[in-house]
Amino acid sequence: MTTQTGRTALVDELIAIAGPGAVLTDAADMEPYAVDWRRMFFGTPLCVVRPAATQEVADIVRACARHGAAVVPQGGNTGLAGGATPDGSGGEVVLSLQRMACIRALDPVGMTMEVEAGAILQTVREAALEQGRMFPTGIGAEGSATIGGIVSTNAGGVNVLRYGMTRALVLGLEVVLADGTVVNGLRRLRKDNAGYDWKQLFIGSEGTLGIVTAAVLRLVPAPQHSVTAFIAVPDIDAALAFYSLAQSRIGDTLSAFELISAASVGLQEKHFGLKSPASGGQWFILLEGASSLAGIGEAVESLLAEAFESGLAVDGVAAASQQQARALWEIRERITEAEGREGRSVKHDISVPVTAIPAFLADAGKALEDLSPALRLNVFGHLGDGNLHYNVMMAGPGDDGAAINRTVHDAVLRHGGSISAEHGLGQYRVGEWLRTKTPAEQALSAALKQTLDPAGLLNPGKVLPRRDRG
Ligand code: FAD
Ligand code: MLT
Ligand code: ZN
Repeated sequence: MTTQTGRTALVDELIAIAGPGAVLTDAADMEPYAVDWRRMFFGTPLCVVRPAATQEVADIVRACARHGAAVVPQGGNTGLAGGATPDGSGGEVVLSLQRMACIRALDPVGMTMEVEAGAILQTVREAALEQGRMFPTGIGAEGSATIGGIVSTNAGGVNVLRYGMTRALVLGLEVVLADGTVVNGLRRLRKDNAGYDWKQLFIGSEGTLGIVTAAVLRLVPAPQHSVTAFIAVPDIDAALAFYSLAQSRIGDTLSAFELISAASVGLQEKHFGLKSPASGGQWFILLEGASSLAGIGEAVESLLAEAFESGLAVDGVAAASQQQARALWEIRERITEAEGREGRSVKHDISVPVTAIPAFLADAGKALEDLSPALRLNVFGHLGDGNLHYNVMMAGPGDDGAAINRTVHDAVLRHGGSISAEHGLGQYRVGEWLRTKTPAEQALSAALKQTLDPAGLLNPGKVLPRRDRG
């Protein structure tokens, strides 16, 4: 679709499908949909369309295909890899699922929930809790992130070590394919080996293979008792030894084991003023034990006593109330925003085998020091998952983000890791994916894309390079 007449005709068709109030064409109205959360990627879409039903999504995708227009699916636009905003080529249709936010069904006995793609994660979690059930994917952006977004990024978060990534929590999906076909796989089954498990292709593929319109989620019993503790540890080896001890003592109730550097705590204190309840270590651990059974408080207490006795922990507190626990979590959850307020940074979302974390930190730290001694680090993450947000604060405008990126990712690869643990590739990491994945894996990915989206109209330039620039 290149001509002005063609563009106008497509907008008219989209208005006919979704209604005039559901199609935005004014630049100011489109701005929130055209810029990503970090304000790193700016697009110039043809329009934003906000359908209210699966059939409308199918008709929109079909109309875009007829006109050769690219479609960029978007949920809450909280993604950290630039996947939900157009890549700057211009002329795309942003397909916002936000109006499809219905919770269609909740079965507390079967422990499943069917929801539309635009449902807000926090709303879904609260609805489950009202029935004594929990949807475990928990992330700092849950007040805005949608189910379609967390499915399409295979989001992780703070409870992965116990409940798995979003992939482990999706039982069924409804998707719209690139040609507008609706595939309804909204089964509520824990066991379903009748053929290929095709839904896995759409989970984590960032809207490049199809549009997720609804999902059946797996729920777990909501724990009745929980304990949160914030602990200072002397060094990274102690953090790992403490993790191993926690697995041995309270492993089946351990639902979070987060690693926070002293620098991250400092950034948070500087920008939000939440005082750290522990001091004296290079690193902090935020851990949570949760169970349906009473007794978790004593179990965590005895774990902490053992950690202090053996020198693995040097200071810290266990929350005495839900309110205190919330305050401890807030210290952790504010880090991302604090980093944004501090200035420009090069973000990394890497994973290495848990036991390789100390060696990776030493190796990457040395490599960055060689690159530029003035760089400051903001490292935090999900220690139990081997997932670190190894973020590098830019010292000045002359810093080369690409060189920093390559230096960190090369260290990641030396330790058998991945350049994206939970945020995905979006448009932010496509270049690094091309540089670091084997030709065979790249060819397999291209073949999947070619099969499901032969015209390359679904979220071009994300995950894979645009074909015209490949
Ligand atoms: P969007 O940002 O709108 O989209 C993300 C990707 O999914 C894009 O590629 C988009 O095209 C695609 N997409 C969205 N909806 C659909 C759909 N219906 N069909 C097909 N494709 C679709 N992530 C983590 O994993 N763990 C964390 O701990 C975490 N913490 C965060 C904390 C903060 C403060 C912020 C800002 C972000 C955090 N994130 C985290 C990243 C982000 O919140 C997640 O990636 C989330 O899953 C994105 O959901 P969303 O609805 O905003 O998706
Ligand atoms: C987190 O763990 O807080 C998120 O993934 C956000 C981030 O990486 O900044
Ligand atoms: Zn994270």
